[in-house]
Amino acid sequence: MLSTQDNDRLTKVGPGTECGAWLRSFWFPIAISDLWDGPQAQLQLPDLMKYDDRVGTPTEFGEQFGTFKGDPLKVRVLGEDLVLYRDLSGVLGLVGISCPHRSSSLEYGRPREHGLACPYHGWTFNETGRCLAMPGEPPTSGFKDKMTHLAYPVEERGGLIWAYLGEGKPPQIPPIDVFAAEDGIRIVENFCIWPAHWLQVVENSVDQVHTGILHGEGSSRADVWSQIPDVDWDEDADGIQTIQIRGDYGRTNYLHFPTIILLNQPWPGGKFNWPRYSAIIRTPVDDFHTLFFHVTYVPPVNGKLPDLPEGMELEAADQVQTLFIQDYRAIVTQGAPVDRSIERLGTTDRGVIMLRKKVERGIEAVKQGKDPEGVIRNLPDGHIISSSDKVTDGLMSPAAAE
Ligand code: FES
Ligand SMILES: [Fe+2]
Repeated sequence: MLSTQDNDRLTKVGPGTECGAWLRSFWFPIAISDLWDGPQAQLQLPDLMKYDDRVGTPTEFGEQFGTFKGDPLKVRVLGEDLVLYRDLSGVLGLVGISCPHRSSSLEYGRPREHGLACPYHGWTFNETGRCLAMPGEPPTSGFKDKMTHLAYPVEERGGLIWAYLGEGKPPQIPPIDVFAAEDGIRIVENFCIWPAHWLQVVENSVDQVHTGILHGEGSSRADVWSQIPDVDWDEDADGIQTIQIRGDYGRTNYLHFPTIILLNQPWPGGKFNWPRYSAIIRTPVDDFHTLFFHVTYVPPVNGKLPDLPEGMELEAADQVQTLFIQDYRAIVTQGAPVDRSIERLGTTDRGVIMLRKKVERGIEAVKQGKDPEGVIRNLPDGHIISSSDKVTDGLMSPAAAE
C-alpha cells in the first residue's frame, strides 16, 4: 500500500517530477526505425481506448505512433510532445513539437538537407536544436544564431530508435544481445500503446504468481502451467530476476531497470531445440500510457542459424497473442492512475515491494546527483550482455501455454 503522495512521487513522469528525473537517466525506444528491413510483427489488441483525443485500438495507436516511416512523426515520451524526423542527409533528430517562433507544430515540418523546417515560416532546426535558417529575416540578422530549440539525442539499435531525454552525457544503451548482438536473427515487434502507467506494467513483470491463474487456466499445457508457482526474487545492480518453480519446471525472467523485461522463449511445446530470447521494452509515454516494443532474438549455435521446421514461426507475436490480451485486461483495469492506497499486498507481492524500493532508491540517487541503478556507462565497446546468463526455462514456454 502506498499513500497517494508516495504513489504520485513514484509514478509521475513529466518534466520537473522526481520520478521523471530518475526515468530521464535512461534511454527508451520511441519507434521502429524506417531503416529496419528485417522481420517485423504486430501484436493485435482489439479493445478500445482513448489516446491523442481519439478512440481507437492499442494496435492502431501503436502502429501510428510507434513506427517511424520516414516522415516526421509526433511522439510523446515522458509526458513531452516531440517530433522525430530524418533529414535528407539521413540524420535523425528529435525536437520539441512546438516551433519556438509562433508555436506551429513541427509534426508537419519539412525535412531539409540538414534539419527540419517549420512549414509556417521555415525556421529550420537541426538534431542539436541549432537554428540553421530563418528565411523571412534579413540576411544580416543574427537572430537565428541566438535561437535554439529543444532537441534530444537519438540512436538506432536493434531496429529501434532510442531517445535520451536526460541532461549531461548519455549513458550506454544496455548492450543486451536481444537488440545489440550483430549475429543471429532479430524480429522487431510493435506491441502497441497501452492505456496504463509504466509502473503497473512493470509490476506485472515481477508478479509471476499471476501466470498460474491468469494464463494457466484453459491453456494447452494447463497440467503444468496452471500450477501456482513458488516464486522468489533475486536483485542485482541492474535489475530483478524473478524465479518461478512448478515441481521440476523452473523459469526465470529478468527485469533490467527500469522497464526492459528479458524472457526465455523456447519454441511451442518444446518441439524445436534452439535457443530463443526476447525483450519487452516499455516506454513511458505519459502518466496514463505506455508504448511497448518486443524484440525476439534467435542466436546462432556453433555459427549456424536454424532451419525452422514447417509450421514454426520465428516471431513470438502470434504465439503470445492470448497471453497479452489477458495481461492487457488485468493491467489496464487496475485504473488510470492506479490507486495504490487501497491495495492489500500479500506474501506473493514481495517482488512488487522490492521493485518499488528500487525505484525509490533510484529517485534518491538522482536527487543526490548520482547515477541510479541500471545506468550503464563503462562497458567496453563490443561487450554484450547475454540473455542466457539472465533467463532460463526448464520445461515449457509461455507460448506452449497457449
Ligand atoms: S511558427 Fe514556425 S517558423 Fe513561424
Ligand atoms: Fe502475464
